[in-house]
Amino acid sequence: MSEPFEPKIVAFVCTYCTYAGADLAGTSRLKYPPNVRIVRLPCTGRISPMFILKAFQKGADGVLVSGCHPGDCHFDHGNYHARRRWTAFNALLQFTGVPEERVKFSWISAAEGIKFAELIESITEEIRTAGPFEQYHKLIAETGSAASV
Ligand code: FES
Repeated sequence: MSEPFEPKIVAFVCTYCTYAGADLAGTSRLKYPPNVRIVRLPCTGRISPMFILKAFQKGADGVLVSGCHPGDCHFDHGNYHARRRWTAFNALLQFTGVPEERVKFSWISAAEGIKFAELIESITEEIRTAGPFEQYHKLIAETGSAASV
């Protein structure tokens, strides 16, 4: 009998808002799936498409990018830059074979532990339904194109 598929999700979160929200979820003892691995960034403005591709290259089935709400960024405009980049990222990611449903973007503040837990719950379920992200790994194996990512 095979084990049910448990997706690996990498969450790139800003340290001031979403990371604190995740911490609040933990200290509030909210339950959410253990499928997420958090990578802390100083700000979502630091996100690069290379981080996302690297996560998939290393075996992630889904990626979340989350930071402060618009107007709350501790670096003033970092999350606006991230939102603008997001538009360009999406086209690039789809071009490289990453379906849109594998990458999520959200705003979660330090006070939104419940929202963080609910988001992780819903993303995990969505990626579980989508299944393992094997086509990207096959593409890398066939072309070697992401080997230098
Ligand atoms: Fe949180 Fe910029 S510090 S998004």
